[in-house]
Amino acid sequence: MYDFKPDPALEPAERYRQLYEAADALTSGEPDAIANMANVAALIWEFVPDLNWAGFYRIGKNSGGSDELVLGPFVGRPACIRIPIGRGVCGSAAASGITQLVEDVHAFPGHIACDAASRSELVVPVMRGGSVIAVIDLDSPEPARFADEDARGMERLAALLGDRI
Ligand code: SME
Repeated sequence: MYDFKPDPALEPAERYRQLYEAADALTSGEPDAIANMANVAALIWEFVPDLNWAGFYRIGKNSGGSDELVLGPFVGRPACIRIPIGRGVCGSAAASGITQLVEDVHAFPGHIACDAASRSELVVPVMRGGSVIAVIDLDSPEPARFADEDARGMERLAALLGDRI
């Protein structure tokens, strides 16, 4: 049995440190990308409070053979399956390779509402060999839920996953 339940009183920095350690332990030596993304999505859900969605979109192909984001393992309500590169918060992170921290999703041009409850969002690219291979998407029902410390914690996790998903 894996029991990675964090102490609710943890400070964010310690919370993200423990999340990283747990993700490292669970994915180390496991070559199956889907298994690793599924476990990391579940860990994020356990460790990061006040989320209504946490998971992955991977770079895949559309019917014309061009890149687009395709839904991967997640925790939360069923979500949009395919997102064009450059569209919405996830597509912007994938196009730019830069973390997107959105305090108010309603003010973000092109935001894609998968769950009407979402108010703020953090999307972090996962890179391999200098290219974006996936994004990690966190949604919260609270406005301005995410701060720089969340972005830095998730970026460190994303760096760990570059060759594990
Ligand atoms: N809101 C995202 C779409 C993905 S869902 O939130 C799970 C976006 O604008 O890219």
